[in-house]
Amino acid sequence: MKISAVIFDLDGVIVSTDEYHYQAWKQISDQENIYFDRAINERLRGVSRMESLDIILSHSDKVYSESEKYLLAQRKNDIYCELLNKLSPNDILPGIINLLISLKARDIKIAIGSSSKNTPFILDQIGLATNFDAIADGNSIKNSKPDSEVFLLAAEFLGVQPEECVVIEDAQAGIDAAKAAGMKAVGIGSAAKCFNADMKLNDISNLDIDHLLEVNEIRS
Ligand code: G6P
Ligand code: MG
Repeated sequence: MKISAVIFDLDGVIVSTDEYHYQAWKQISDQENIYFDRAINERLRGVSRMESLDIILSHSDKVYSESEKYLLAQRKNDIYCELLNKLSPNDILPGIINLLISLKARDIKIAIGSSSKNTPFILDQIGLATNFDAIADGNSIKNSKPDSEVFLLAAEFLGVQPEECVVIEDAQAGIDAAKAAGMKAVGIGSAAKCFNADMKLNDISNLDIDHLLEVNEIRS
């Protein structure tokens, strides 16, 4: 089937917010005396805020109540949002703007499929708030990646079938979500190692549109 839409993950694909997530979670972990490092941070890619907190708290002996967890997540998000204030259009990752322009020129629909509840704020900061045909994010879903919900919702908003969509992702959870949705999946950066990605690229700036639309013929 012909590819008629491309769904972009946000964090790590359109803009690199990993360092800000790391710094915010590191501050919370240090305040709580919980071990946290960059390898643990890698496991938080594509995972919702509360599930990320559960991964961090699994390194603590203390048992946290639901209300304590809620407050910790809120504190982390306050620190993270303060850091997001620094984001600007200069932080859009190389290759993204050209890709968006080329897709528009070919009438291919573009959407965001992100687990982040900060999606509207981030898109606003980088000047892309009105550029996508649809946005499905952490505010509109119950089940975060690797569940297929966010990508199926993006396809529904676009009015296209899942088989017509290709997802661009930097996380294993996101590749799994795309495959569970019945979509093609392009793994970039750390997701270039994912066994189930239909196409693997170290860097999105190496991706040209003909290559992207050929993903349909690679594995179907
Ligand atoms: C993205 C990031 C995750 C993050 C999640 C929730 O998927 O890759 O690391 O935990 O969004 O982000 P939020 O902005 O809602 O805390
Ligand atoms: Mg990501």
